[in-house]
Parts: sequence; structure tokens; C-alpha cells
Amino acid sequence: MIQGICFDLDGVLIHTDELHYLAWKGLADRLGVPFSREQGDRCRGVSRMDSLEIVLEQAGRPYSQAEKDAFAQEKNQAYRAMLSNLSPADVPGEVVPTLKQLRQRGYRLALASGSKNAGLILERTGLGAWLDAVADGTCIRRSKPDPEIFLTAAELLGLPPSRCAAMDDAVAGIQAGRAAGMLTIAIGDSAVHRAGVYNLTRFDQLLELFPGPGEEGAL
Ligand code: BG6
Ligand code: MG
Repeated sequence: MIQGICFDLDGVLIHTDELHYLAWKGLADRLGVPFSREQGDRCRGVSRMDSLEIVLEQAGRPYSQAEKDAFAQEKNQAYRAMLSNLSPADVPGEVVPTLKQLRQRGYRLALASGSKNAGLILERTGLGAWLDAVADGTCIRRSKPDPEIFLTAAELLGLPPSRCAAMDDAVAGIQAGRAAGMLTIAIGDSAVHRAGVYNLTRFDQLLELFPGPGEEGAL
């Protein structure tokens, strides 16, 4: 029986995945390096430095570690400038009512995001108010597809991973959730790839998967 749900942030609770893409695209354009949507999708869920390696795949020359560090910092500054305009109005309309309902039904909710900017996003959007625990990029050493972030989220919820579900838009995130021993729920790109046990098209379909006490659900 599932008692806790661990959510990825970018591309699940809010569409900051597009802002990551735009910030990387800005860097790639400045460097004159081709960067496709398909490459952008492969950056989902993976760490900032691993994303940079994907961005530089088609670069004409190798870059030093110092140059790469500067590129990652440049992208992060551009990304954070975009985040500074975020407000609660940027959270998709179905997200907060769904989180609220899940909590009323007794589920414990956690963030499991590899982003070091998660705290800023939760603060600017008010999403933090609906979460019982927060695991983000500042608490882990290994990024998705490693299970560390989901295991940390379960621990913060005080639940065994087998009692938790992991929801992620990244194929790497679904792999991480599976490796943590959680029920996996894909949405967006990972659902297109049918990576999860459940593959949703809308966030509020969670309410069909996780019924209230005494109700029958799809699980
Ligand atoms: C994940 C994103 O949530 O966070 C990745 O899906 C990103 O694309 C990773 O690289 C790290 O984010 P940040 O904000 O710490 O650079
Ligand atoms: Mg994501």
C-alpha cells in the first residue's frame, strides 16, 4: 500500500523544464554549438554538469574544465534570472488542488528534485506549503538515475521506499525511482517513452491512482 508520493519538480510540479532548455539553448547559441530539443530532453533529470556534456556534444573542439565551470555558471545565472519572474500563477492550475486532495486523503508528499535551485522555486511559487519533506540537489552526491534522491525523500517522510511512489518527467528519474524500489509514475517526456508503471497525461490523474480511505482506485 502506497503511503507517500515523491515528486520531481522541473517538468512535474511546474514547467521550469522549459526554462532549463531555454537557458542551455542560449549558451549553445552563444558558443555556436547546435542543440536540439532531443538533446534538451536528455538533460531532464540529470545534473547540471552532465547536462553541459550533452549541450557540448556537437561542439567543434574540446573545452577545459575551467571553461566548462564558467559555462555552467553562465547557464545557471541565465536560468536564475528567468526564475526571478516566477510566481504562484506559474503553477499549472491542476497541481495545487491535486496535492491538497492527496494530503486530505492521508498521503505524505515529498519533493525529490536534483536541482540546487529547487528551494528558490518552492519559495517563489508557494509550492513548499503543500510538501511534507523536501529533498533537493543540495542533499545528494549522486544524481538521477542513481536512486539517492528518492531514498532521501522517503527517509525524510519516515517511510520505507516500498511504500512510496516516484513521479518524474525524466526517463533518468523513472530509472532512479525504480532503483529506489518505488512504484514509478511517468508524466510528460517519460510517459511518452512509457517508462513508468503508470504513464499519465495529466497531473490530476493521480487522484484516480490514489483513492481516499475506503474508495477503490486503479492500483
Ligand atoms: C533537474 C532538471 O530537475 O535539475 C535537470 O531536470 C537539471 O535538467 C537538474 O540539470 C539540476 O538543476 P540545477 O537547477 O541545479 O542546475
Ligand atoms: Mg524533471
